[in-house]
Amino acid sequence: MNVKHDFVECLFSALNGQIKRKQILKMIEKPKFEQLGDLAFPCFELAKIYRKSPNQIALEIAEKIDLPLFEKVEVASGYVNVFLNMRDVSSKIVKKVLLEKEQYGNLDLGKNEVITIDFSSPNIAKPFSMGHLRSTVIGHSLALIAEKYGYTPVRINHLGDWGTQFGKLMVAYKQWGDEEKVKENPIKELLTLYVKFHEEAEENHDLNDKGRAWFKKLEDEDEEALHLWKWFRDESLKEFSKIYQLLGIRFDSYHGESFYNDKMDRVVQLLEEQNLLEESEGAMVVQFETEELPPCLIKKKDGTTLYATRDLAAARYRKETYNFAQSLYVVGHEQSLHFKQLFTVLQKMGYSWHEGMVHVPFGMILKDGKKMSTRKGKVVLLEEVLEEAIQLARVGILKKNPNLNAKEEVAHQVGIGAIIFHDLNNFRLHDIEFSLQDMLRFEGETGPYVQYSHARAASLLRKGDFQEGQERIIEDKEAWPIITALMSFPDVVKRSYEGYDPSQVAKFLIELSKAFNKYYGSVRILDDPEQKQARLTLVYSVKMVLKEGLRLLGMGAPDEM
Ligand code: ARG
Repeated sequence: MNVKHDFVECLFSALNGQIKRKQILKMIEKPKFEQLGDLAFPCFELAKIYRKSPNQIALEIAEKIDLPLFEKVEVASGYVNVFLNMRDVSSKIVKKVLLEKEQYGNLDLGKNEVITIDFSSPNIAKPFSMGHLRSTVIGHSLALIAEKYGYTPVRINHLGDWGTQFGKLMVAYKQWGDEEKVKENPIKELLTLYVKFHEEAEENHDLNDKGRAWFKKLEDEDEEALHLWKWFRDESLKEFSKIYQLLGIRFDSYHGESFYNDKMDRVVQLLEEQNLLEESEGAMVVQFETEELPPCLIKKKDGTTLYATRDLAAARYRKETYNFAQSLYVVGHEQSLHFKQLFTVLQKMGYSWHEGMVHVPFGMILKDGKKMSTRKGKVVLLEEVLEEAIQLARVGILKKNPNLNAKEEVAHQVGIGAIIFHDLNNFRLHDIEFSLQDMLRFEGETGPYVQYSHARAASLLRKGDFQEGQERIIEDKEAWPIITALMSFPDVVKRSYEGYDPSQVAKFLIELSKAFNKYYGSVRILDDPEQKQARLTLVYSVKMVLKEGLRLLGMGAPDEM
């Protein structure tokens, strides 16, 4: 059931069909104060059309609204305010959650079509940095939300495992590297080599040429180059898997940039056939009509390919393999230009499906207001942050609940949950200042606060010996904010997918937790035998939806903590 849509229908017929349903829906607001009602319709925009005062229009609309769904209709300073029939709505919502369980909020808007989601996509031979955390966490959540929306998500890890940087790394390894050291601590050692290369290259420009030459060797499948590359790649993947395991994330494909090595000739050929390739200072580029887009580099002077070339091949491959309806790229906003170029080249190539390509950008994680850079060795290692979060959760549990059963599992869920929620609760385009302290906060609007609310609900159900099937209708006025929150969940799922915005789910969870904790503080849920079952039914619905919302963010929901 969707009360908002019922309200739209009422307004639509009250306005004699003169205003489109879509526009009405957009105009509906939630009143700032509870005592003003549950939904409000402002009439200011209509004043011009009807040449009447907003208040007059509101009065005329109000007279025509008489659905039993609404208990009361009021007009106040240009608004039509409606009050929902609490008993009716509560009973419908609670019944629906009880019936549908974790499927409550599932939509069939995606029609099972495929959405590919390119996310995480770290660069091998480099540590998995905090910077990659955002893409990983946002992408993972979007895949889960897409699924709830009715799509079939395909999770793709487009590993950065090809490119000039590997030539550079080979040069560094051959010059200063030590096999034993790399074996002992691969990622750290390779990073040291990479940083050293860039320091030395500032003085010694030969080094860059050497790096390019080694990458050329790699593209030409030189044996030694391939061997080194494979070794770096395997070690890196081992390290990355540890992190994905910690986060509980899996991918459907690990085809990284190297996978497209034998698929780029075809792209270059296609571009040539369509006369889209031009020479520019020895390199091959695609030019654009608008000034804003600089030419897209397809091949360098020495014949080696680029990031964009590989992305073109990947896009074609994904369309062929998955026949996606949409193809998302969860990548930082500093790559916006790259994706604009990529999508425009595809359009020029005549692929109508370029319309389904979406760059989902996000802000940076800053340290002291500045971007973190691998080249200068300025990175914070994600694995260390995750381990620290889990440790902190462990300490908390030992202090507050030393008799807890599955301590390790709960510490894991809470520690990781804190990090994930901290990221997703921020609107993705905002930059985030890196602060371990902030990430590990367990009070206030945090992941552990939501998890704690869920555990409190679980404990009430245990103590109250809740029996399914004996539901009763809730009578408490204090329950109303919970009901309206529960009611909004399907709409939250819809908006968060359509805006590629998991923060809406995070904000929703905070709202529902707050409403629940307030209720818990003011109503003695277990004390009144008459009311107990009805109240526990409400608690059960809250628990169900909190758990499902947490799942959509990629977080666990312990029953005790
Ligand atoms: N490896 C890249 C980076 O770390 C991200 C790749 C994103 N995906 C893509 N298809 N370009 O910056």
